Amino acid sequence: MSEPLFSPSLISPTVASALPTDYSIRPLQRSDYHAGFLDVLRVLTTVGDITEQEFEARFDEMRNGGLGRGGGYHVLCILDGQGKIVGTGALVVERKFIHNLGLVGHIEDIAVAKDQQGKKLGLRIIQALDYVAEKVGCYKTILDCSEANEGFYVKCGFKRAGLEMAHYY
Ligand code: ACO
Repeated sequence: MSEPLFSPSLISPTVASALPTDYSIRPLQRSDYHAGFLDVLRVLTTVGDITEQEFEARFDEMRNGGLGRGGGYHVLCILDGQGKIVGTGALVVERKFIHNLGLVGHIEDIAVAKDQQGKKLGLRIIQALDYVAEKVGCYKTILDCSEANEGFYVKCGFKRAGLEMAHYY
């Protein structure tokens, strides 16, 4: 099944047309277990041995999260000319009471396949997620990253704000 995680109308036409020839951008699909999605994420961190069934169950949770179309999860993919996923990124929309029931976008899990880095695919992923955030009504988008990636996000228009803290369980 090629069901998209969120509405394809949230994909920026400007970003789509700025990709290298034959590359495309679209929402994550339920069938993407076989398109290299988890392998791209392995560039970022440990993924684990996830079965197709487990992948689909998590996809369904994200899609049906009870927060309207897309469940607030917008995972998108860039594909090369062969239909292989070579980049991914996510925008998670948080609903707030403050700021007049404001919406905040959280950028998560940005990864570009090692042999595809340096072709502006990372930049296009961020631009595409920014487009989603604006379209769904977020008043800001935030993310956490390492010092080593700060320069990349500055090039994407972000600026340092605040300090991350964590509890691990
Ligand atoms: N530091 C400084 N500048 C950088 C960096 C960096 N680490 N990476 C890229 N840039 C610059 C590029 O030189 C380019 O500059 P230019 O416009 O002057 O030419 C600009 O940023 C855009 O670069 P892209 O080609 O779009 O970057 P790429 O496609 O290689 O993707 C990414 C960058 C996503 C960081 C990639 O290297 C990657 O997947 N790394 C491993 C996983 C990772 O660290 N992901 C980010 C985790 S943080 C998070 O998910 C919120």
